[in-house]
Amino acid sequence: MKRFNLLIILLLSIFLTDSCQKIEPIVIIPEPQECTPKKGHFTPDEGTFLCFSNIPENERDMTNTIREQYSKFFKLTPNLGDEESAGKNSMLFEVNKKRNEALGDEGYELIVTGRRVVAKANTTAGLFYAFQTLKQMSYPSQLAEGGKPTIPCAKITDHPRFAYRGAHLDVSRHFFDVNYVKKYLDMMATYKLNKFHWHLTDDHGWRIQIDKYPALTTKGAWRPERSKWDTLHPVLPDEPMTYGGFYTKEQVREIVAYAAARHIDVIPEIEIPGHCSAILAAYPQYACDNYPYTVAVGPYWPPKAIMCAGNDGVIDFYKGVLEEVAELFPYPYIHIGGDEAFNDNWQVCPKCQQRIADMKLKDEMALQQWLMNEIEEYLKTLDKKAIVWDDIVSEDMVNMSTIMSWQDPKTAVIAAKHGNDIIRCPTSHCYFNFYQNDPKSEPLAMDGLITLETAYSFDPMPEGLDEKAQKHILGGQCNLWTEFINTPKQANYMIYPRICALAECVWTDPSHKDWKKFQNKVEMHTAFRKR
Ligand code: ACM
Ligand code: ZN
Repeated sequence: MKRFNLLIILLLSIFLTDSCQKIEPIVIIPEPQECTPKKGHFTPDEGTFLCFSNIPENERDMTNTIREQYSKFFKLTPNLGDEESAGKNSMLFEVNKKRNEALGDEGYELIVTGRRVVAKANTTAGLFYAFQTLKQMSYPSQLAEGGKPTIPCAKITDHPRFAYRGAHLDVSRHFFDVNYVKKYLDMMATYKLNKFHWHLTDDHGWRIQIDKYPALTTKGAWRPERSKWDTLHPVLPDEPMTYGGFYTKEQVREIVAYAAARHIDVIPEIEIPGHCSAILAAYPQYACDNYPYTVAVGPYWPPKAIMCAGNDGVIDFYKGVLEEVAELFPYPYIHIGGDEAFNDNWQVCPKCQQRIADMKLKDEMALQQWLMNEIEEYLKTLDKKAIVWDDIVSEDMVNMSTIMSWQDPKTAVIAAKHGNDIIRCPTSHCYFNFYQNDPKSEPLAMDGLITLETAYSFDPMPEGLDEKAQKHILGGQCNLWTEFINTPKQANYMIYPRICALAECVWTDPSHKDWKKFQNKVEMHTAFRKR
């Protein structure tokens, strides 16, 4: 009888404790595909075991990032364990022994109970994303009184809708140092973005060390310091070239490694054949004419500079540059530009016209396609593939490169039907250098308006594609052009919170998107960032 009473008391107390616990808010961005909140929470403490299981030998380093983030974020020294120690009061990160097809290469399953956390995935990338989810789940508790991080109980099954989830950063119009690039990568990783498009070259500065062409960085990386971007007069002969900078090869390797530890691939962009004033300031022999090109200092439009497509030296130049670039970046893709190549110079250049005649090309546009194709073929010899802006897309195009579609969705439709892979970043939704609010109340930005709600309404999948062509839509990215963005603070202001919207558009199935809920989540994330 005594024993029976004890049992009743025990069961009653378990029941009462459980029913007193409430379901806590879960504020994950991007919204997971399936999330069932449960009562209660898990609180990591000094006694918690951080366990890893079945991590492939060559990916052990990947667990370091989770360990580091665990220490920093939960302010705890990790007690490392393995499958054996993953009992009560543990967080287990396990690579599945048998692949779970439904999770793909980046998905994960997460079970949080009051006793422990179990994360499972097919890959270490999936485990990394599970950890980003766990971090975000603790935001509300960290903002509450006391601020101790706890993780609400839940069962989550999650995987991305698109494999390509990117963010672009223009470091030519204004230079951003290694420290800031790392911060940018941190923000990307938090929101499960996995491709960093690094816009390294443009009219306003060349930003990567190339040993074969040293003047690219001794000359091409520097321009006069002008307090205002719009100060419209050309570089004066005696103006000191004090504004600029570039990344050494060592720094590039550092960034690539930092990104890799966060499951982010880095895609360098080397612009061909336009946006090249900085090259021509350093190597004027690659122009069609004798114009005294300088590194550009303001919004002259359209830019006159274009590399001479009739000069074999230009092709050798690009090959020399790309050979060194290819060595630095392990990801198989290199972006070779191709946008806004104003070809007025080509129309009057005897060498370019000769090339058109020799190659039996239709016009200057075909000349650009020919040039980009030559470079694309060369990249293949380096085991690399080309990404190009959609300016080269036409019904009769020859190039098979991956197309970055920034203009009307019809370029994406034409190219996908042609069989090219597509990355979407339309000016209508993904240009985060545009105003995000009424320009009257905002700092100067690029003319155009993309509110958070507009950014959130982006669907990378264009209309008008059959199932086969839809497979060519790899995903999407946001672009941060920096003409009017000259400090890290301003870059953060422009990118956040719109990057949250982009992240949800490329990760979450449209059926799980919810604008109202998203706004509430963003409020919580913003409060967390500001705390
Ligand atoms: C672009 O915005 N010119 C790609
Ligand atoms: Zn020419």
